Amino acid sequence: MSVTVETAARTAPAAVIVAIDGPSGTGKSSTSKAVAAKLGLSYLDTGAQYRAITWWMISNGIDVQDAEAVATASGKPAIDSGTDPSAPTITVDGVDASGPIRTQEVTSKVSAVSAVPEVRARITELQRSIAAAADRGIVVEGRDIGTTVLPDADLKIFLTASPEARAARRSGELKGKEATDVAATRDALVKRDAADSSRKTSPLAKADDAVEVDTTELTLQQVIECVVTLVEEKQAAK
Ligand code: DC
Repeated sequence: MSVTVETAARTAPAAVIVAIDGPSGTGKSSTSKAVAAKLGLSYLDTGAQYRAITWWMISNGIDVQDAEAVATASGKPAIDSGTDPSAPTITVDGVDASGPIRTQEVTSKVSAVSAVPEVRARITELQRSIAAAADRGIVVEGRDIGTTVLPDADLKIFLTASPEARAARRSGELKGKEATDVAATRDALVKRDAADSSRKTSPLAKADDAVEVDTTELTLQQVIECVVTLVEEKQAAK
């Protein structure tokens, strides 16, 4: 009996916590989901959580430029994230928010809401409890995961790409009229990155011990393979 248990302990890969940070348009979401699916890990999109709380603020008539009002309301919505990488979900007060959180209005207001310290404290706590509950390990993507949310992550990746490459990728993801204007997408991305990087509370930043991967010249498949290899090396070393 003890032999069986010891064998299982030796063969099952150890739970691994992977933090993937970087600005938008670097392939963070596609990479994180694919890596988690391939390795049987959970997946958490922390940007979706900030978008969800922003959507709730807008829906409840709260002025997102009023940091005090946002801070006071930050504890009210119940935000729930489903962590299956093949079908991630996000609900606010039990309502599916996956569509509304991707609107232009939410995108343009999320930096203001996510800069409020009370919002960050609330969402960070949620993120830590989700990561702690992931028995087989988890890939968590965001802006401050390696620096603030999970500073003890087993592996930290920081994805980058040129603003032009990022704008072209984002334009491809957008539909209809929005997709045609790469220059406007580029300007909006650069503006949002500047806001996310310059805020006082846990800004977008590369952790000192993160592996930086410049995806400008890489295909998505190449980025996925690179990250899978890095995770497998960490699992083998555990
Ligand atoms: O990844 P995304 O574009 O969906 O993220 C939306 C916004 O949420 C982004 O502009 C900054 C914020 N965000 C954050 O402040 N911290 C995170 N860990 C993830 C996202």
